[in-house]
Amino acid sequence: MTAHRHTVLFVSSDTAARRAAIDVFGQDQDYRLISCEDEKTASAKLGDIDCHLILCDEEALANARKNFLVATRVRQPHIQRIVFGDGSDLSRAVKIARHCAAFVHLAKPLAEDQLGVMVKRALEMAELSRRHRVLSRELKLSMDDNLFDGHKEEPIKAPWSRFEKLIYVSPKMDALCASARQAAATELPILIQGETGTGKELLARAVHYNSSRRESPMHVQNCGGIADEALHSELFGHVCGAFSGAIADRLGLFRAADGGTVFLDEISEISPSFQISLLRFLQEGEVKPLGSDEVTTANVRIIAASNRPLDRLVGEGVFRKDLYYRLKGFELDIPPLRDRIDDIPALAAYFLERASEISGKRIVGISREALDKLSLYDFPGNVRELEMEVTRASALANNNSYILPKHFSDVIADIEPSKVEFAAFETDGRTLKEMTEAMERQVVRRALARFKWNQSKTADALGLSRVGIANKIKRYGLDKGDAL
Ligand SMILES: Nc1ncnc2c1ncn2[C@@H]1O[C@H](COP(=O)(O)OP(=O)(O)OP(=O)(O)O)[C@@H](O)[C@H]1O
Ligand SMILES: [Mg+2]
Repeated sequence: MTAHRHTVLFVSSDTAARRAAIDVFGQDQDYRLISCEDEKTASAKLGDIDCHLILCDEEALANARKNFLVATRVRQPHIQRIVFGDGSDLSRAVKIARHCAAFVHLAKPLAEDQLGVMVKRALEMAELSRRHRVLSRELKLSMDDNLFDGHKEEPIKAPWSRFEKLIYVSPKMDALCASARQAAATELPILIQGETGTGKELLARAVHYNSSRRESPMHVQNCGGIADEALHSELFGHVCGAFSGAIADRLGLFRAADGGTVFLDEISEISPSFQISLLRFLQEGEVKPLGSDEVTTANVRIIAASNRPLDRLVGEGVFRKDLYYRLKGFELDIPPLRDRIDDIPALAAYFLERASEISGKRIVGISREALDKLSLYDFPGNVRELEMEVTRASALANNNSYILPKHFSDVIADIEPSKVEFAAFETDGRTLKEMTEAMERQVVRRALARFKWNQSKTADALGLSRVGIANKIKRYGLDKGDAL
């Protein structure tokens, strides 16, 4: 599947306007058009997708003063906004555009040529301000080389890659997101596994919005801690009177998401009897609501997630093997954060940027010492825990200054790098030569991680030649994807 360069979120219930948008962007590989009818759905979608421009009907704004465009302007200022509506009163149109800080207000009916040009200009403008932001930051960094070494090499490129809302730099996540994009282009069920807080739901949403199903709904069902009957009714629906409390018919998520995606979270928790119902659905696509004799069908893609490895549960005999194989048309295993520590500085910078955008507070960055401590912590709560730490630290840090170790929780602030590094070097039967080599290996690995595997910089920092560092990498079998 080709990667679209720009995502346009179209918000309007006006079919003529939607047709104009589809005519302009629908066939253009550079654009991905995602549509919805009202501001509530638009806000939800903004939480899931990496959006570049919102094209919004002023009728979809429930309250002209306090609407989602105004909120977006504050929370996601990098997203461009264009409003359209009644153009007969120019001063009114200008007022609306100014209030939402929109690039322009366009008059209905939308003229396709004008729409195409305006969107292009608005996106160019956004790109220019992004470059300006990046360059200003680079300039700041070049004056303060304590921070984020290595960014100076590629001044224009964003310092991280993203797959919708997933941020990463590590080769492991790069490979995973490449597989996820491939999986998205198919109709196969997907099984996402990973510890708590690794981003399973974020990945599921990214897959949905990168699949041909993106204009249909994605519904989420948590399968943990819910009785069979209730789960059956949530997914397959029920008819009135099917059980006590069933006072009206219920469609069920499979039919509600027809054409789209259903995300089944904590799939490991379903009972043996529900495993059979789900297997039947995956095989036949048939939906039989509780209490009904009628069988209908629903065309949905299932994405299931688990933080317990399903193959182990299959081995223990608590999860059906046939269902496991059905679910894992594609298997995406998200590594824990401690196994991809090169993502830590990037994620921390991203969460910091997000926290500053929301609070309006200006934090210059994260001190080298604080970053080192983050990299040594094993993050049992994974990215969610890092997000909490950075958000809280940014609230505690002083304006116009750095996040320091003391702003983190004690478990992180108290980490002593030297203790962690040298704890492994007690006399333990190894010769001095073996221990020295183990230490050298660790020092080289850490330096490489610090300089993002830039061998010249690492060599400089360690006082080695280019050939010298290459020899060490070869000798110790070091690999970019390895955890520290
Ligand atoms: N790579 C990432 N980039 C940005 N944010 C991330 C990333 N991974 C996770 N997050 C953030 O971490 C939090 C947890 O993510 P998510 O809910 O997707 O995890 P999960 O694996 O489903 O966790 P759980 O198993 O506890 O349900 C969210 O706030 C999410 O935005
Ligand atoms: Mg989850």
